[in-house]
Amino acid sequence: MPAKANDVGRYGMVVVSNRLPVDHEIGPDGATRWKTSPGGLVTALEPVMRSAEGAWVGWAGAVDEEFAPFENDGIEIVPVSLSAEEVQEYYEGFSNDTLWPLYHDVIASPQFHREWWDAYVAVNRRFAQAAADVAADGAIVWVQDYQLQLVPQLLRELRPDVVIGFFNHIPFPPYGIFSQLPWRKQILEGLLGADVVGFQRVADAGNFTRAVRRLFGYTTRGAAVEVVGPDGDIRHVVARTFPISIDVAGFEELAARPEVQARAEQIRSDLGNPKTIMLGVDRLDYTKGIGHRLKAFGELLAEGTLAVEDVTLVQVASPSRERVATYMTLRDEIELQVGRINGDYSTISHTAIAYLHHGYPREEMAALYLAADVMLVTALRDGMNLVAKEFVAASVDEDGVLVLSEFAGAADELKQAIIINPHDIDGLKQAIVAAIEMPESERRRRMRALRRKLHENTVDHWSKSFLDTLTGRGAVPPGIPET
Ligand code: G6P
Repeated sequence: MPAKANDVGRYGMVVVSNRLPVDHEIGPDGATRWKTSPGGLVTALEPVMRSAEGAWVGWAGAVDEEFAPFENDGIEIVPVSLSAEEVQEYYEGFSNDTLWPLYHDVIASPQFHREWWDAYVAVNRRFAQAAADVAADGAIVWVQDYQLQLVPQLLRELRPDVVIGFFNHIPFPPYGIFSQLPWRKQILEGLLGADVVGFQRVADAGNFTRAVRRLFGYTTRGAAVEVVGPDGDIRHVVARTFPISIDVAGFEELAARPEVQARAEQIRSDLGNPKTIMLGVDRLDYTKGIGHRLKAFGELLAEGTLAVEDVTLVQVASPSRERVATYMTLRDEIELQVGRINGDYSTISHTAIAYLHHGYPREEMAALYLAADVMLVTALRDGMNLVAKEFVAASVDEDGVLVLSEFAGAADELKQAIIINPHDIDGLKQAIVAAIEMPESERRRRMRALRRKLHENTVDHWSKSFLDTLTGRGAVPPGIPET
């Protein structure tokens, strides 16, 4: 039964995501502390959340812990708890060992387990209920990402009065791949519970609408899907692209700080002031093409095209999903590859690859971007890749070369990068050499164009255009790109 107006929650804007925008920490005294993780999403939504009495529903990353809702910086934080079994089956299992590889071109084999699916349904139901409990009458509820694809429909059943948006941060696969999923219809039904379903690339929105046509026979007109209800009534769902971005001004401000610039100088000098510093920054994930990048660099060193005296590769690989078997294997493979290249080509004074299996705060990241001459983004498949955008934002000196995979969503916008196919190792090697040798005038021309493009679409534009479309209540606004 839908809740009555007098027993609904008080929040006019509710964001629902698997992870909360705050990290849970246990202090030395054993007490719980919360630290805001300064992601782009939080920055973009903070002003809207404050003015609309916002609540954020999500998991605190802890196992078997119940936390009461609390206020953080003007936003109500509503923690959803997960048991150890749910973390294993819903998060590590169905989200990251079924959906993640399936939605990223099956680079790794997706595992299909019925118990994982059951856990996914149960946990999505819990998130939907938590959102239903706090949303005010007619509230806007914005659900984020692949871990929560059933929430829109479940929430619509609980609260038909709220306006529901869903944004998929990762790719949406072509039908030939999506159709492998035993629960493909349930997933689409879940998503179609939303008024607006947003994607990163035109291709993702197209894959989604094609799947909807194939599996349900619904008519799609441009970005509008005509969902036919049980009584033959038609409800319009908008499915279109909203390419996500970053807090551009925030990154620029960081990169312009004297202490960050001094840190960048320090990094260069600690590395022995090589002519060229190349940088890779990724979660340690098989979608990122880290192995392809290392192979290309290793071959360039082996051939003598590059020498460790001149070029250093800094590879930040932040730990991720470490209890999922595919990620454990990947770590072993990458570290073997790094060890071999360093063993073969490093000298006492020059290390070929500075490999860092750590996550770093934003300040250190900005310093690394500033210190780098060439940024390597060689993803095999990536929804957007915000690292590419962060590098451009941090390049306040308008210098630096971005090598960018065509398989990252960012390639749709950042066309002045050197665009590569990471599977083509020879092409990747040529691109690396071209990036290193690029004359300053061309570097500046390209970087200026990239920075102009980045300024046209910041994370504020992204959230505003999504929310504007959503408050149009599912109607297709004029002039939006057809999917
Ligand atoms: C990707 C996903 C996010 C996810 C992040 C980190 O960017 O789109 O939803 O939060 O990876 O992964 P994790 O599993 O640690 O949340």
